[in-house]
Formats: sequence, structure tokens, C-alpha cells
Amino acid sequence: MIDFSEFDKVTHFSDWQLSVDRGAQRLFHGRGQCYPDFEFFTVDYFEPLLWIVLYREPEPNFWAQFCVELQARFANECTSAIVQKRYENTPSTYCLWGDIPLMHYANEGAYRFKLDLSHKQNIGYFMDMQPARAWLAQRAEGQRVLNLFSYTCAFSVAAEQAGAASILNIDMSKPALSEGRENHRLNPVVRASELRFLSHNILKSWGRLKKLGPFDILICDPPSRQLGSFDAINDYKKLVRQFPDLLPEGGDILVCLNAPYLGQRFLEEVMGEYCPNATFVSRIAGREDFPEASSDAALKVLHYRL
Ligand SMILES: C[S@@+](CC[C@H](N)C(=O)[O-])C[C@H]1O[C@@H](n2cnc3c(N)ncnc32)[C@H](O)[C@@H]1O
Repeated sequence: MIDFSEFDKVTHFSDWQLSVDRGAQRLFHGRGQCYPDFEFFTVDYFEPLLWIVLYREPEPNFWAQFCVELQARFANECTSAIVQKRYENTPSTYCLWGDIPLMHYANEGAYRFKLDLSHKQNIGYFMDMQPARAWLAQRAEGQRVLNLFSYTCAFSVAAEQAGAASILNIDMSKPALSEGRENHRLNPVVRASELRFLSHNILKSWGRLKKLGPFDILICDPPSRQLGSFDAINDYKKLVRQFPDLLPEGGDILVCLNAPYLGQRFLEEVMGEYCPNATFVSRIAGREDFPEASSDAALKVLHYRL
């Protein structure tokens, strides 16, 4: 039976510090498989609340102890602690203390993103993609950016803040694009980019997209597997072989993959076979607060240049 003292010993719980300056923060990344017996949950800090995701039902004794210790340690600093039971078919949430706020935001440097902490599996913010957004912000000034699978448009916000000339966001889900627009409203700029939002199934046709190009930077961040709309194993190559028609020579491509069962080699092989004119430049390193036992199981973000 696992108990809290073991957790404290391996995760240094007593040393956990909330960092307001750094914005959204992962306090505990069990999912990275670095803490045997504690892989089943994560703890995030979205000032001023804690957001905990359970990927399986916890062992009751440990969980009761953990919740008591968490409250003793953070109830003064955090207005609420919300738990999402991700292992349920339709994930439910409950509060260890406090309430679920109607409106809440994740801060990331100068950016602000809307969170939905009430009922959806995806809360509308992908913290682990922050280094990729920083990568984009460094090079987007004056560039034409194509954001495939745009969902929250967090990449688009980063590009606009950096002064991109134009950004085309594409997602098949209209509600997703509405969330993206909302995130843009939350992040006003003095000189706006030419912003477009297109509701379109990317696998269905490329003609329209090609007419709207060319682009200087392409971001490709699909789901690993979404029933009926995308499966990385079969569909990633269908994206990759279109890249040469969307960017001129010298164009930058960021390919992302968050499937733990497909390693970096999968993406390299797909790029090598279906977009042989692209050269691998680097892999974008993950956040320090997301320690990962296996770099293949972790989020993979690879930079290529045509
Ligand atoms: C992993 S999320 C993308 C996250 C996004 N890059 C962000 O930063 O918020 C995947 C998105 O892909 C969209 N999607 C899945 N299959 C698609 C398809 N075939 N065509 C267009 N969009 C698709 C979903 O609607 C979902 O919003």
C-alpha cells in the first residue's frame, strides 16, 4: 500500500513552490513516468487555483492523505483545488476546497488563455506546448503563418503578438475556432496580423488551402487519434506530403506529436519518406516542470526547414 510519506520522499512535496511570476505551472507531472506508483495524476497551478487531473481511480488511503496535506499546505494561497476524473468516460470534476470559477485564465508570459474547468476533457490550454509557442514567437515577425489543427489558436496568439504578417488558422470544429477567436480577443495587439479562421477537414481537400498560401511557417499539431477525423499512424503522412506545395524553399515546419506509443523515429520516418526536401533542424525541448522518463513517449516537437 502506498502512503503519503513515500510520495513526499520521491516528489519533494514539502518543497513545492507556487511561482506567480512564471504564470501557469506544473507542480507535479506524474504522467512523465518518473515517479513509480504516482503516474496516475498531475497537479497544475493556474493562479490562484490548483487543477488536479486523475488518470485512474486513486488508492483511497493515499488519496485521503494527499488531499489533507495539499489543503494544509496550499489552502491559504489557493482559492480552490479542483479535481478532474479523466478516467471517466465523461470526466467529472469536484472541488477539494473552494469553487469552480465561471471564468478563469492561464497566464503564459504576456499571453492569457481562457480555461474551461467545468466539464470538458480539454480545458482549452496545452501547457506543454509553451516551448513551441516561444519558438514560434522568436521567428514569426513579418511572416505568413499556417496553423493546422488550430483549436485554441494559442500558436496564432503567439504569432500575432510577435508581429506575424498573416495567420491562417484551420480546424474542422467551429466551436474550437470560436475558442480561438476568444483567445485573440483576450490578447489585443496594437498592429494586428491579417487573421483568418477556416473551418475545414484538413484531410478532405488541399486545393483551397494551397490557394490561400504560400506560407513561411507551418505549424502542424494534430491529435494522436480522434475517432473518424485523424489517426497519426495512417494520416500523418497525408499531411506531410502536402507541405512542399504550401511553403517555398527555406520555409519552416513544426511537426508535433503527442502519442506516447509513437516515438520521434515515427515522425522522422514520415518526414523522410513523404517530405524528403525538408531537413531536420532540431527537437524543441520540453518544459522543465514536465520531467519525462522517455523522450519517445513525451511530446515530440520537431523543427524542419524545406
Ligand atoms: C491537439 S488539438 C490541437 C491543439 C492546438 N494546436 C492548440 O494549440 O490549441 C487537435 C484539434 O484538431 C482538430 N482536428 C482533428 N481532426 C481534424 C481534421 N481532420 N481536420 C481539421 N481539424 C481536425 C480538432 O478539432 C482539435 O481542435
